[in-house]
Amino acid sequence: MKLSTKARNLRPSPTLTISTRAKQLRADGHKVLDLSLGEPDFPTPTPIRAAAKDAIDKGYTKYTPSAGILPLRQRISSFLRERRGLTYGTDQIVVSTGAKQCLFNAILALVDPGDEVIIPSPYWVSYPSQVEIAGGDSVFVETKLEDNFQIDPDAIERAITPYTKLIILNSPNNPTGAIYTKERVEAIAKLAAKKGIWLLSDEIYDELVYEGAKAHSPFQLCPEAQEKGILINGFSKAYAMTGWRLGYIAAPKPLIKAIRAIQGASTSGTNSIAQHAGVAALDMDRALLEEMRQTFEGRMLFLREKAKELPHVKSSSPQGAFYLMLDFSHYLGMQTPSGQTITSTVDLATYLLEQKYVAFVPGEAFGAPGKLRISYATDKDTLAACIDRTTEALKELR
Ligand SMILES: Cc1ncc(COP(=O)(O)O)c(C=O)c1O
Repeated sequence: MKLSTKARNLRPSPTLTISTRAKQLRADGHKVLDLSLGEPDFPTPTPIRAAAKDAIDKGYTKYTPSAGILPLRQRISSFLRERRGLTYGTDQIVVSTGAKQCLFNAILALVDPGDEVIIPSPYWVSYPSQVEIAGGDSVFVETKLEDNFQIDPDAIERAITPYTKLIILNSPNNPTGAIYTKERVEAIAKLAAKKGIWLLSDEIYDELVYEGAKAHSPFQLCPEAQEKGILINGFSKAYAMTGWRLGYIAAPKPLIKAIRAIQGASTSGTNSIAQHAGVAALDMDRALLEEMRQTFEGRMLFLREKAKELPHVKSSSPQGAFYLMLDFSHYLGMQTPSGQTITSTVDLATYLLEQKYVAFVPGEAFGAPGKLRISYATDKDTLAACIDRTTEALKELR
């Protein structure tokens, strides 16, 4: 079978290999502890579920306008105004099948073959895949554990060429948990505005911030950047709605027009029931969100301390999302008790999974060899057991 060039160029992610094997081990009866997940372990809050049931009973089960139902776009517009200080009309907002489709729509609408997209690394794996599908080239700008994975605006400036079409920012960050400082976000927003480059801010984790930290939207700090600015957010993480597939994009009208056309030609928009549930999510008592945020914060503080028990492993101080990125490069080149050499963190993750039934995502998936991502979207007992099992496994390496 001859698949398209685009399909052939998409490499399966190492995440998939680990999670498939984890599922298999679990099916074989092993107690696998899975810290590879990118989704909250909480149920979707009751008012959101109730609104969805109500939507079904009221018969809101037909196609919706491709850009999303007006009540939801109105609510997103007022939410952005009241809570973020940003002005977007309903004609500047499109609701899609998760933030992921919002990203895809934006990238398809902007990026041509030969265009470059600047992406800080470690990065969320879908950014370069989507740029690749659009025919563009990803240009990675490294952030370092020693700098707490902070972005360096000068490094972004050095990466700009005449072909740069777009800069992608994601703060709080997946996979590092870093929140970029106000100064740095502002500097990058000003840089993008000065150079006339599109700036995409993926703010999907903006509610999940800890220890008093605040996530800053570049468009709040530098309104001029909004002219070529794309704000993306969604309901998956803060509202525990991963399976509902609901996200939104806010952008200038000409871009929104193109995105509507792309969405109209592909999915016709996201499902009607989730959209009604989305209105309830933005309306509901925010104490419910705060409860989940506090639980994540408690786990993060616990895990950060507990991870110090891992011998020769370096950690950063994440303040957002639900991930910790740890540096295991000390173990590269070592041998397992059965004589296999650990040449990469894919090997290390495989060893931990096969020997101790602990699943992490290897850094290679995020352009961060030598590192593993731990998700703390799980309870403290599981986190503690994972670190204990990993410590044991590391001590057996020679
Ligand atoms: C950084 C980032 N952006 C976007 C998404 C997509 O979220 P969804 O499509 O579920 O809204 C994710 C999900 O893992 C993510 O980590």
